[in-house]
Amino acid sequence: MIGTDGQWVHRESWIKVGSYWVLDIMFSNWPSEDVLAHYCLTHRDIFRSKKVIELGSGYGLAGFVIASVTEASEVVISDGNPLVVDYTQGNIEANSGAFGNTAVKSMMLHWNQEDISSVADNFDIIVASDCTFFKDFHRDLARIVKHLLSKTKSSEAIFLSPKRGNSLDLFLEVAEENGLHISVTENYDKEVWKCHEGFLNGADRDSWPSYETGHSYPLLIRITL
Ligand SMILES: C[S@@+](CC[C@H](N)C(=O)[O-])C[C@H]1O[C@@H](n2cnc3c(N)ncnc32)[C@H](O)[C@@H]1O
Repeated sequence: MIGTDGQWVHRESWIKVGSYWVLDIMFSNWPSEDVLAHYCLTHRDIFRSKKVIELGSGYGLAGFVIASVTEASEVVISDGNPLVVDYTQGNIEANSGAFGNTAVKSMMLHWNQEDISSVADNFDIIVASDCTFFKDFHRDLARIVKHLLSKTKSSEAIFLSPKRGNSLDLFLEVAEENGLHISVTENYDKEVWKCHEGFLNGADRDSWPSYETGHSYPLLIRITL
């Protein structure tokens, strides 16, 4: 299949949705999502009364954690794959009693969608995990982050992403070219760092034999306008 920038991408794991292609990985929760959910739990205060959107949510564990424990005013859990969005909607309905006063919605949002007027300039916080390795979509992802972040209040995007070759660095370059400001933190949480060291050299090595820092360890990226 030809991606949006003319590059070849492997066909089997992609599905066409209208005029868009998305990676069909709805039946997996990636480890970075667990770390993002943990980060949101341990920093729950930053979400209080905020409008939050998760991009490329997959199962949306982090979005559900924010919806359940942070007293955010609104949480939108979005993905470009309609099967994922349907699944999320079902999960929202099944857990509707768990969100207190937080309004929780699922949303079909593809990063290269032209019309995003209903959500532009709307969010205090964007969260995303493991969404930066699709080089075909770097420009779209940077563009959508820029459009969604609120221009009138302080706002930021919180990404957790492994380096995955040079893909994260390339995304950060594109984001900076789009005028976004970036900070990258390697060691941002004691517990996560302890797990990282355990998988790398310690007692937990056998539980994740293919663990490799560049491919597996999510860095914390904060993006502001
Ligand atoms: C690697 S998965 C990460 C899922 C989840 N955040 C996690 O870490 O478990 C990337 C997600 O982004 C979505 N996605 C991929 N390309 C997209 C695009 N161009 N627009 C919107 N969503 C996209 C996929 O459907 C998928 O759910």
